[in-house]
Amino acid sequence: MGTVRNLSNGGDVVLYLKEQHDQIKALFTRVLDATGADRDEAFRELRRMLAVHETAEEEVVHPLARSLPGGDVQVTARLREENLAKKALVDLERLNINSPEFITKLRALQADVLAHAESEEQLEFDRLGTRFNEDQLKRMRKAVELAESVAPTRPHAGIESRAANVLVGPFMSMVDRARDALHSKS
Ligand SMILES: [Fe+2]
Ligand SMILES: [Fe+2]
Repeated sequence: MGTVRNLSNGGDVVLYLKEQHDQIKALFTRVLDATGADRDEAFRELRRMLAVHETAEEEVVHPLARSLPGGDVQVTARLREENLAKKALVDLERLNINSPEFITKLRALQADVLAHAESEEQLEFDRLGTRFNEDQLKRMRKAVELAESVAPTRPHAGIESRAANVLVGPFMSMVDRARDALHSKS
Protein backbone atom coordinates (compact mmCIF):
# COMPACT_ATOMS: atom_id res chain seq x y z
CA MET A 1 0.00 0.00 0.00
CA GLY A 2 1.51 3.29 -1.03
CA THR A 3 5.18 4.02 -1.05
CA VAL A 4 7.40 3.31 1.92
CA ARG A 5 9.62 6.26 2.71
CA ASN A 6 13.28 5.64 3.19
CA LEU A 7 14.03 6.68 6.75
CA SER A 8 17.48 6.64 8.21
CA ASN A 9 16.89 6.14 11.92
CA GLY A 10 14.01 3.98 12.96
CA GLY A 11 11.15 5.53 11.05
CA ASP A 12 8.49 8.04 11.94
CA VAL A 13 4.77 7.78 12.49
CA VAL A 14 3.97 7.64 8.78
CA LEU A 15 6.12 4.59 8.16
CA TYR A 16 4.86 2.93 11.34
CA LEU A 17 1.20 3.36 10.40
CA LYS A 18 1.84 2.16 6.85
CA GLU A 19 3.48 -0.96 8.24
CA GLN A 20 0.41 -1.53 10.38
CA HIS A 21 -1.74 -1.20 7.25
CA ASP A 22 0.30 -4.00 5.69
CA GLN A 23 -0.18 -6.12 8.82
CA ILE A 24 -3.94 -5.46 8.79
CA LYS A 25 -4.09 -6.47 5.13
CA ALA A 26 -2.23 -9.72 5.89
CA LEU A 27 -4.44 -10.45 8.91
CA PHE A 28 -7.63 -10.21 6.84
CA THR A 29 -6.17 -12.82 4.47
CA ARG A 30 -5.12 -14.98 7.42
CA VAL A 31 -8.63 -14.98 8.91
CA LEU A 32 -10.20 -15.87 5.56
CA ASP A 33 -7.68 -18.65 4.83
CA ALA A 34 -7.75 -20.23 8.31
CA THR A 35 -10.29 -22.64 9.78
CA GLY A 36 -11.47 -23.54 13.28
CA ALA A 37 -9.32 -22.39 16.20
CA ASP A 38 -6.77 -20.84 13.84
CA ARG A 39 -9.44 -18.57 12.36
CA ASP A 40 -10.57 -17.62 15.85
CA GLU A 41 -7.02 -16.68 16.81
CA ALA A 42 -6.39 -14.77 13.58
CA PHE A 43 -9.68 -12.87 13.99
CA ARG A 44 -8.75 -11.93 17.55
CA GLU A 45 -5.36 -10.67 16.35
CA LEU A 46 -7.04 -8.68 13.56
CA ARG A 47 -9.38 -7.03 16.06
CA ARG A 48 -6.49 -6.20 18.37
CA MET A 49 -4.50 -4.64 15.55
CA LEU A 50 -7.47 -2.64 14.29
CA ALA A 51 -8.30 -1.45 17.82
CA VAL A 52 -4.74 -0.28 18.41
CA HIS A 53 -4.24 1.22 14.98
CA GLU A 54 -7.50 3.09 14.53
CA THR A 55 -7.48 4.39 18.10
CA ALA A 56 -3.94 5.72 17.70
CA GLU A 57 -4.94 7.44 14.48
CA GLU A 58 -8.00 8.96 16.12
CA GLU A 59 -6.13 10.15 19.20
CA VAL A 60 -2.77 11.18 17.77
CA VAL A 61 -2.71 11.53 13.99
CA HIS A 62 -6.11 12.73 12.80
CA PRO A 63 -6.24 15.72 15.18
CA LEU A 64 -2.93 16.97 13.74
CA ALA A 65 -3.97 16.22 10.17
CA ARG A 66 -6.98 18.49 10.62
CA SER A 67 -4.61 21.46 10.57
CA LEU A 68 -3.43 20.64 7.03
CA PRO A 69 -5.07 22.54 4.16
CA GLY A 70 -8.32 20.70 3.43
CA GLY A 71 -7.54 18.40 6.34
CA ASP A 72 -10.82 18.97 8.11
CA VAL A 73 -12.90 17.43 5.31
CA GLN A 74 -10.53 14.50 4.91
CA VAL A 75 -10.33 13.69 8.63
CA THR A 76 -14.11 13.86 8.98
CA ALA A 77 -14.44 11.36 6.13
CA ARG A 78 -11.82 9.03 7.65
CA LEU A 79 -13.48 9.15 11.09
CA ARG A 80 -16.79 8.23 9.51
CA GLU A 81 -15.17 5.22 7.83
CA GLU A 82 -13.52 4.19 11.11
CA ASN A 83 -16.84 4.35 12.95
CA LEU A 84 -18.52 2.20 10.30
CA ALA A 85 -15.69 -0.33 10.58
CA LYS A 86 -16.09 -0.47 14.36
CA LYS A 87 -19.81 -1.14 14.02
CA ALA A 88 -19.08 -3.88 11.47
CA LEU A 89 -16.57 -5.51 13.83
CA VAL A 90 -19.02 -5.48 16.72
CA ASP A 91 -21.57 -7.15 14.41
CA LEU A 92 -19.00 -9.72 13.28
CA GLU A 93 -18.21 -10.64 16.89
CA ARG A 94 -21.79 -11.83 17.29
CA LEU A 95 -21.56 -14.27 14.37
CA ASN A 96 -20.27 -17.82 14.15
CA ILE A 97 -16.85 -17.42 12.57
CA ASN A 98 -17.47 -20.46 10.38
CA SER A 99 -20.79 -19.24 9.01
CA PRO A 100 -21.20 -18.00 5.42
CA GLU A 101 -22.56 -14.74 6.84
CA PHE A 102 -19.32 -14.13 8.73
CA ILE A 103 -17.26 -14.63 5.57
CA THR A 104 -19.50 -12.35 3.51
CA LYS A 105 -19.40 -9.58 6.10
CA LEU A 106 -15.69 -9.97 6.73
CA ARG A 107 -14.97 -9.64 3.01
CA ALA A 108 -17.06 -6.46 2.88
CA LEU A 109 -15.16 -5.07 5.88
CA GLN A 110 -11.86 -6.06 4.28
CA ALA A 111 -12.70 -4.04 1.15
CA ASP A 112 -13.81 -1.05 3.21
CA VAL A 113 -10.81 -1.08 5.55
CA LEU A 114 -8.28 -1.43 2.73
CA ALA A 115 -9.90 1.44 0.81
CA HIS A 116 -9.85 3.48 4.03
CA ALA A 117 -6.14 2.76 4.52
CA GLU A 118 -5.38 3.75 0.94
CA SER A 119 -7.20 7.06 1.43
CA GLU A 120 -5.25 7.73 4.62
CA GLU A 121 -1.93 7.08 2.96
CA GLN A 122 -2.63 9.20 -0.11
CA LEU A 123 -4.66 12.03 1.39
CA GLU A 124 -3.34 12.29 4.92
CA PHE A 125 -0.11 10.50 5.90
CA ASP A 126 2.05 11.61 3.03
CA ARG A 127 1.07 15.22 3.69
CA LEU A 128 2.01 15.04 7.38
CA GLY A 129 5.63 14.87 6.29
CA THR A 130 5.34 18.23 4.57
CA ARG A 131 3.87 19.96 7.61
CA PHE A 132 5.69 18.43 10.58
CA ASN A 133 9.40 18.00 11.08
CA GLU A 134 11.21 14.74 11.71
CA ASP A 135 11.27 15.12 15.50
CA GLN A 136 7.55 15.78 15.64
CA LEU A 137 6.82 12.77 13.43
CA LYS A 138 8.98 10.58 15.66
CA ARG A 139 7.25 11.83 18.80
CA MET A 140 3.92 10.91 17.20
CA ARG A 141 5.31 7.47 16.48
CA LYS A 142 6.22 6.97 20.14
CA ALA A 143 2.67 7.87 21.17
CA VAL A 144 1.24 5.45 18.63
CA GLU A 145 3.61 2.69 19.76
CA LEU A 146 2.40 3.17 23.32
CA ALA A 147 -1.14 2.26 22.33
CA GLU A 148 0.12 -1.00 20.89
CA SER A 149 2.26 -1.86 23.90
CA VAL A 150 -0.63 -1.54 26.35
CA ALA A 151 -3.51 -3.08 24.40
CA PRO A 152 -3.97 -6.73 25.33
CA THR A 153 -2.41 -9.42 23.21
CA ARG A 154 -4.48 -12.11 24.92
CA PRO A 155 -8.16 -11.96 25.83
CA HIS A 156 -8.80 -11.17 29.48
CA ALA A 157 -11.32 -13.40 31.22
CA GLY A 158 -13.41 -10.51 32.48
CA ILE A 159 -13.57 -8.85 29.12
CA GLU A 160 -14.71 -11.90 27.18
CA SER A 161 -17.41 -12.93 29.65
CA ARG A 162 -18.73 -9.40 30.13
CA ALA A 163 -18.98 -9.08 26.37
CA ALA A 164 -21.24 -12.09 26.09
CA ASN A 165 -24.27 -10.33 27.49
CA VAL A 166 -23.77 -6.62 26.93
CA LEU A 167 -23.46 -4.49 23.84
CA VAL A 168 -19.80 -3.72 24.47
CA GLY A 169 -17.88 -6.57 22.87
CA PRO A 170 -14.24 -7.62 23.13
CA PHE A 171 -13.33 -5.34 20.25
CA MET A 172 -14.64 -2.23 21.94
CA SER A 173 -12.84 -3.25 25.15
CA MET A 174 -9.60 -3.34 23.16
CA VAL A 175 -10.40 0.13 21.82
CA ASP A 176 -10.99 1.39 25.37
CA ARG A 177 -7.66 -0.01 26.54
CA ALA A 178 -5.76 1.56 23.69
CA ARG A 179 -7.45 4.91 24.33
CA ASP A 180 -6.74 4.70 28.07
CA ALA A 181 -3.08 4.03 27.28
CA LEU A 182 -2.85 7.14 25.12
CA HIS A 183 -4.63 9.34 27.64
CA SER A 184 -2.65 8.14 30.66
CA LYS A 185 0.49 9.24 28.83
CA SER A 186 -0.63 12.85 28.37
FE1 LIG B 1 -7.86 4.73 10.03
FE1 LIG C 1 -4.99 3.51 9.16
